[in-house]
Amino acid sequence: MQNILDNATVLSVGENDKKALRMAIEETLDAILASIKDDSAFSGMNPYALRAEVEKLGFLSEEGTGWEETLESVKKTILPNMLFTWSSQYMPHLHSPALIESIAAELIISVYNNSMDSWDQSPVATEIEEAMIHGLCRLFGYGEDSGGTFTSGGSQSNMSALIALRDRYIERNLSWDVKKKGLPYDYNKLRIYTSEIAHFSFQKSAHILGLGYDSVVLLPIDDKARIDAGKAREIIMRDKENGYMPFLIVATAGTTDFGSIDDIASLHAIADECGAFLHVDAAYGSGLMMSDRYRERLGDISAADSITVDFHKMFLLPISCSAILVKDRTILDCFLIHADYLNREEDEEDGYINLVGKSMQTTRRFDALKVYMSFRMRGRHGFGKIMDRAVENASYFYSRLIADGDFFAPVKPELSSVVFAHRSGDDSNKAIRRKLLERGTVIGQTVYQGRVMLKFTLLNPHLTHERIDSLIDEIKKLAE
Ligand SMILES: Cc1ncc(COP(=O)(O)O)c(C=O)c1O
Repeated sequence: MQNILDNATVLSVGENDKKALRMAIEETLDAILASIKDDSAFSGMNPYALRAEVEKLGFLSEEGTGWEETLESVKKTILPNMLFTWSSQYMPHLHSPALIESIAAELIISVYNNSMDSWDQSPVATEIEEAMIHGLCRLFGYGEDSGGTFTSGGSQSNMSALIALRDRYIERNLSWDVKKKGLPYDYNKLRIYTSEIAHFSFQKSAHILGLGYDSVVLLPIDDKARIDAGKAREIIMRDKENGYMPFLIVATAGTTDFGSIDDIASLHAIADECGAFLHVDAAYGSGLMMSDRYRERLGDISAADSITVDFHKMFLLPISCSAILVKDRTILDCFLIHADYLNREEDEEDGYINLVGKSMQTTRRFDALKVYMSFRMRGRHGFGKIMDRAVENASYFYSRLIADGDFFAPVKPELSSVVFAHRSGDDSNKAIRRKLLERGTVIGQTVYQGRVMLKFTLLNPHLTHERIDSLIDEIKKLAE
């Protein structure tokens, strides 16, 4: 049956189009709310069964099925098998449920569909992003010369920092313009140093940047899963003596598995000594900046030349939402290129800011709106409470594990992740995770010193100690 939506295309000043938008959103919201029947994170359907269901949906018909049938198919096959990120049974990755007001922000972002590349595609959005970047730089202790840009995620933020700092290092030390001439002849002497448990985006970026995985030297960690600064210094100085060019040291403030925070002050001192830049990957740990109780765990993050901040992790904003902040905003000029059709110099001279000039992306979402709305609504204390709860839940879970002879938990958590294993062995731990998945509880799995480990990433503000206790009991029963 045809309805008002089937005859609509895009929004307009016309009443029918406004009604069509309201209908699409209201009916979709009703379907979403109806799909939430209990606190399970997942239907438990196995990949083969799910693939078969998806195959039945088809790809592209000649005439289209209309709105009602399309929504029916979404209700039947897609929504029930989505991952319910708000469930207190979802805790495998640094992937959060979304704050409710930020979902409203997403609606605004999609309806207006402004693009952040040029002022004439995003007038107020450009000004809001600039204001958010300014505020974030101050929050993280940066001064007047700082700047930054929103990105698609931590990987792109890290890669942006790598490009910008590599180019600046080469310009300073080899008087060579990478942007124009490509890599210098002895590019294979360039080295990046980071933790052996740092996020893989550094190797991936090194490959994309033409430096290769071998340019990333993985530094050993101590028993707190932080870079061993003494050994790091030895390795870096030896490389320098042997003719390598250490251009970047990366500290992680919140490693992906353990949430461990590298000692920024020691790594900063090494960076200074060997003439390298310091980047802090705070994709995970940046949320602590909002907490009066735990902020000091980040150390002097403002010592870094650049900082990755992800809002789609501890800050609980919807994917995607991340920023790269830089102490000296001119390093982002590596992304500047003028095009007659987009970012004319004459407009910029008259105050029209074109953000494409400091981003790897061209067309880009107005993700800064999510930060604006959530920061405005909750304030620092509102976010501080969310961060404190996550940290305290992890610390409670850890205290339960170490008091229980059945479990092994090698690293005391500093953020909200706990890596642990049931002592029943590798196969049993793997089976526990699979069994939980089938029952709608999704937890993480990783490897520590050759052992299969389980992982809880406790970002959900609804999570209680009782829920954590019941999960421990369930794991113990499964291990039997
Ligand atoms: C420490 C760290 N850095 C970077 C990233 C990459 O972030 P994204 O997945 O947003 O690209 C992650 C992802 O988990 C991470 O844990």
